[in-house]
Amino acid sequence: MSTKTAGKLRVALGTDHGGFPLKADLLPWLQAKCDVLDVGAFAYDSKDDYPDFAGAVARAVATGKAERGIIICGSGVGACIVANKFPGVRGGLCHDTYSAHQGVEHDDMNLICLGARIIGIEIAKEIVMAFLQARFSGEERYRRRLEKLRAIEQGALNRSP
Ligand code: RB5
Repeated sequence: MSTKTAGKLRVALGTDHGGFPLKADLLPWLQAKCDVLDVGAFAYDSKDDYPDFAGAVARAVATGKAERGIIICGSGVGACIVANKFPGVRGGLCHDTYSAHQGVEHDDMNLICLGARIIGIEIAKEIVMAFLQARFSGEERYRRRLEKLRAIEQGALNRSP
């Protein structure tokens, strides 16, 4: 694991066996651009479980150890389900560049999930770049929606009327 480098975005990255080959391709490219907190898997193990690695990435984002998170599994679906269980994590499954930047600009998305069985390395790089370069717009309507999201997270809106 690397230490924080001034000026570079701190990004947590993790994968299970389903995303392992894509992570291996993505990691050196990402390390040239960001300060990467690699939470594994560090070796291919067909029996490993995505909640372990998705949880590690989401925990890093939720606790502020990383500003953004990237999780790769086979489809990205399981990773996304895990990530959004963590308070403060706003994760999206992104297989196109529009979702990758719009999710940040409108929804303050701080984590993306990729499916290594869905996309290849070049599309993955473009998606990750769109995600990392995007910033929350801060418009009032988006802030209002985030407040509602936080209320749901805290259980305030989850009871039946
Ligand atoms: C692993 O075989 C696969 O189920 C997992 O990577 C992921 O696709 C789950 O959503």
